[in-house]
Amino acid sequence: MESITLQDKNFRTYIPYTEIDKAISRIALQLNRDLKEEDRPVFLSILNGSFMFTADLMKKIDLNCEITFVKLASYSGTRSTGTVKEVLGLCDDITGRTVVVLEDIVDSGSTIANLLNDLRKRNPKQIKICTLLFKPAAYKADIPIDYACIEIPNDFVVGYGLDYNNLGRQYKDLYVID
Ligand code: IMP
Ligand code: MG
Repeated sequence: MESITLQDKNFRTYIPYTEIDKAISRIALQLNRDLKEEDRPVFLSILNGSFMFTADLMKKIDLNCEITFVKLASYSGTRSTGTVKEVLGLCDDITGRTVVVLEDIVDSGSTIANLLNDLRKRNPKQIKICTLLFKPAAYKADIPIDYACIEIPNDFVVGYGLDYNNLGRQYKDLYVID
């Protein structure tokens, strides 16, 4: 599909799946190398946006690891609200373990900053951030982004798990607002 319409907005193809897949393979190689000595690292996927990224990345991960999910929300329409609601919490014990947070996109960084605040109270060994997309120009937090598959300019994108008002998550490619 060249272009899609979601509610009142038009989007055009931006990053095709083949390119997304290559970027994920590159990061998976790095994770497999960097974490091979870790004892049962926990991959913590942030729903809803990261579901597709998580599924594709984890198929390329060759580690003795666990996968778990939390659900957070900070967006309304095409703008970050700045406040992050934790919708569904974390029950797993991460004490003394390596946690890899899986995000669909890091924009202002407020979601990551809030989540890390919470996670650090649970005394993990270390927390790594892994995101499919990263908008360096919008980033305001001081947490290093350890693994970013693709850096993009400050544009609003949908598809491959990302939404506009909860629409458009199912598309295989990434689309940008027209
Ligand atoms: P942050 O808290 O400002 O870093 O925003 C992170 C969250 O906002 C992501 O997990 C997404 O759910 C959402 N978000 C940020 N940029 C976009 C975008 O371009 N398209 C769709 N969702 C986005
Ligand atoms: Mg999200």
